Amino acid sequence: MNGTVIAVDGPAAAGKGTLARRLAATLGLPYLDTGLLYRAVGRRVLDDGADPRDATQAETAARSLTPDDLQRSDLRGPMADMAASAVAAIPAVRAALLDFQRAFGRDRGAVLDGRDIGTVVFPEAAVKLFVTASVQERARRRFLELRGRGVAADAAQVEAEIRDRDAQDANRPVAPLKPAADALTLDTTALDAEAAFAAALAMVRGRLGNAPD
Ligand code: DC
Repeated sequence: MNGTVIAVDGPAAAGKGTLARRLAATLGLPYLDTGLLYRAVGRRVLDDGADPRDATQAETAARSLTPDDLQRSDLRGPMADMAASAVAAIPAVRAALLDFQRAFGRDRGAVLDGRDIGTVVFPEAAVKLFVTASVQERARRRFLELRGRGVAADAAQVEAEIRDRDAQDANRPVAPLKPAADALTLDTTALDAEAAFAAALAMVRGRLGNAPD
């Protein structure tokens, strides 16, 4: 499995993280949640009292990111979600985070999840999965997740925020969310976590089995 890169892309709350983490553990590969990088940049900009759409502030935050920033406990939640999506639309922020992501996967291989792993970060990845689910199902899962963490949430508002983030991530000019031409799409709307994992693993094994030496 040395050097194998597996790209897992898809919209917000599609279950990419859970799937990608499990694939990595099963295949013995390192795992990187690239959304965390954008979340940490957004959070730093918010901490400075600035607007996450401010390109200069956001680029400065991206260039000075440290591993500790990724360990923060406040990277998930509605504010962090929207700040991450806003800084992710800024080309200089994406450029600043590219080398780190490529270096992470280059030597030992890795499973990376995000929005543009198969299209921009690793266009040569051995396997590309595009994991998706209906917006209603993604909102339902995110609502249950928030409730499980004891966060007060309103179901209609959670769905509205996911729709906003989908639109922002898919319509930005730079590295928009879209499946790579050679990605395998996995729609998890009707699948539980176990079935989704089994389907993803079968797709990965199918692709790796057919890969040229
Ligand atoms: O996967 P996530 O929900 O944690 O990602 C947070 C935001 O970061 C998401 O709205 C879009 C952005 N993102 C991105 O643009 N490219 C990536 N590779 C990963 C995340």
